Amino acid sequence: MSELDSRIPNNVGLSHDRRLQRALLRWQPAFLDWWREMGPEGFQGDEVLLRTAVSVEPSGWSHFDFVRMPEYRWGIFLAPPEADRRIGFGDFAGEPVWRAVPGEFRTDLRRLIVTQGDTEPASVEQQRRLGRTAPSLYDLRNLFQVNVEEGRHLWAMVYLLHAHFGRDGREEADALLERTSGDVDRPRILQAFNEPCDDWLNFYMFTMFTDRDGKYQLMALAESAFDPLSRTTRFMLTEEAFHMSVGETGVGRIVQRTADLMAAGDDHPEENGAFDLGLLQRHINFWFAASLDLFGSEISSNAARYFASGLKGRAREKRRTDHAALDGVYRMLVADSGSLREREVPLRNAMNEVLRDDYIRDCERGVARWNRILDQAGIGERLRLPNRRFHRRIGVHADHRFDPDGNLIGEAEWEERRADWLPTEADRDVVRSRMVRVTEPGKMAHWIAAPRRGVHGRPLDYEYVRLS
Ligand SMILES: [Fe+2]
Ligand SMILES: [Fe+2]
Repeated sequence: MSELDSRIPNNVGLSHDRRLQRALLRWQPAFLDWWREMGPEGFQGDEVLLRTAVSVEPSGWSHFDFVRMPEYRWGIFLAPPEADRRIGFGDFAGEPVWRAVPGEFRTDLRRLIVTQGDTEPASVEQQRRLGRTAPSLYDLRNLFQVNVEEGRHLWAMVYLLHAHFGRDGREEADALLERTSGDVDRPRILQAFNEPCDDWLNFYMFTMFTDRDGKYQLMALAESAFDPLSRTTRFMLTEEAFHMSVGETGVGRIVQRTADLMAAGDDHPEENGAFDLGLLQRHINFWFAASLDLFGSEISSNAARYFASGLKGRAREKRRTDHAALDGVYRMLVADSGSLREREVPLRNAMNEVLRDDYIRDCERGVARWNRILDQAGIGERLRLPNRRFHRRIGVHADHRFDPDGNLIGEAEWEERRADWLPTEADRDVVRSRMVRVTEPGKMAHWIAAPRRGVHGRPLDYEYVRLS
């Protein structure tokens, strides 16, 4: 392995591309500065058991070792090229995929890559203070695993910008380190990535719902006619699965703890250091709605153009039969003069909604698993997803008020019921008051059940983070 390949592990032949080397070696110190300043606060000198991507071989793509996070080796890996890969959808379906960026789609492609790239460092920024209140060493390690991998996803997008977009790509790569989550003047591009995420309940909800939006965006980009984007995002998906499991099992363990207390006769788990189901439901409502917004407007000429030109497809395009989507329509319910009416939208213009459908089904499976925990504990109450129209701030539903069942309601009813449906200041206080740091190996904070097993074959009481 050359010295360069050990600094930036890669399977893109970096040591043979002098121009790209120069660009990335210039960007790397800026990234490390950003990581030290905006990455996990207070743990940069500690050794953490982390997974590092080292190749794309399914049998051994990663290894686990103790590293200090600033010494993590963020690499560039693309899934192996598929021989004779063809464009799978849109106006150019059946033609060979592109290895270079076609001039006419350059602006759109750059925007897609920058928008995806912007979310990666944003989530690290949102989560940077969570380490202080980690409910266990196991959870602390999982947080850092997610953080370093979001850092690697940033590298993945920055590689594309440097390798394929020349000077404006370089500028965009720099700008990815200049915007900051929640900043008034230079915020991150998408709103859910400017929401604070400073407690662990919100962290698990974020990784459950918002990282899962990421999964579907990556799946749609994995279909892209621009082959380097497709191959990069396909490899990112292998890491993304872990992030969502952190969210789903994190919330699941909270539900488990609450269910255990309720099953033992405690009708008010919130008075005994845990969370009640109403508070969990309000957080589900908030994060599900905020994450739905990330898919963009229900009726979108941008989405139609991305699909037509082959830049962004649908998840699992191969399982579909009609890859042109020229004749189909999508029927959706839209508020119109005081009631909900069905509206027909040409299918290509509804591609955001098509992707949102897949996402919602995936979220429903996760909520069903949480409800099984309640069921097994003999609790009758259930958690659920709100209707997709509830509390939206982007798209056709944003100008109207809906209850969690999706019924159109007036402003007065909304104001009256809002505290039943969305997290309140009192909820925030409750959540904050529960956040305590637990550092003894194997011990968990009171409000969350222990996970079923440890990480990568280690026992639960393993010292996953060596705090100095
Ligand atoms: Fe990511
Ligand atoms: Fe992620």
